[in-house]
Amino acid sequence: MNTKVNICSVELKNPVMTASGTFGSGREFSEFTDLNKLGAVVVKGVAAKPWQGNPPPRIAEVYGGMLNSVGLQNPGADYFIKNDIPFLRQFDTKIVVNICGHSEQEYIDVTEKLRGADVDLLELNISCPNVSEGGMSFGTDPKVAEKVVKAVKKRADKPLIVKLSPNVTDITEIARAAVSGGADALSLINTLTGMKIDVKRRKSVLYRKIGGMSGPAVKPVALAMVYKVCKAVDVPVIGMGGISNAEDALEFIMAGATAVSIGTANFTDPGAAEKVAEGIKKYMSHEGINDLSEIRGIID
Ligand code: FUM
Repeated sequence: MNTKVNICSVELKNPVMTASGTFGSGREFSEFTDLNKLGAVVVKGVAAKPWQGNPPPRIAEVYGGMLNSVGLQNPGADYFIKNDIPFLRQFDTKIVVNICGHSEQEYIDVTEKLRGADVDLLELNISCPNVSEGGMSFGTDPKVAEKVVKAVKKRADKPLIVKLSPNVTDITEIARAAVSGGADALSLINTLTGMKIDVKRRKSVLYRKIGGMSGPAVKPVALAMVYKVCKAVDVPVIGMGGISNAEDALEFIMAGATAVSIGTANFTDPGAAEKVAEGIKKYMSHEGINDLSEIRGIID
């Protein structure tokens, strides 16, 4: 039985990755789960210089998931290269760096800093809803998206995944623009914009008022978008959005995804991603599936 998948010539031992922003550098999860069992670890967004993130409160629970408004807090590329890559390289898993910037130049700067770094894939974050410059503002207009993807691709020395926002009218339009800019693969969905109000305090729960919603409640939305994007473009798609167990993950694969990422589920069960990988294996063995290509995109 073969659980391996291939993303732009990078072979993952299984299709299960972590979703950026829910796994930090993997360090905080490594005591609870075996990182060797994951196809890839996708780290929290890394910028050219350290970012403070947004003031608290920046996390809130909501029905069926959570809101976050972290604002891409991160210690910057130099710290990441010196501390996080050597830590992650102890494990037999692939490393994917989510990269962020406030401007096209900052996206270029971080990409240049990461040239030669011992990572496997880059994931361009043009979909974070929690920053006033950069993030989602680069991922909701096809022309802007194509331009920034092109600029980053020109400097990247690793295959480039572009992470898409669901906060658009037609995600296939942005997907096509990203591919035309040079994206080697796409990942989706990032969070849906959302809000929670404390009626006793008559205040928004999040300091920044609006944040990004993730968790099981967004799964049907994410699945439909992944399905549509897989039909629209010819590059590998990494599906995510509310995946909590192997059955959820298999739905995304049947919709056409090459791999899947586990995000919010890590907060309720730090072993969730490992369990999803195990569950996919069990399903394959039970159903007599030798390779995931037998069921990938089976929904026509
Ligand atoms: O606010 C955040 O750090 C979220 C990042 C993202 O959604 O990409």
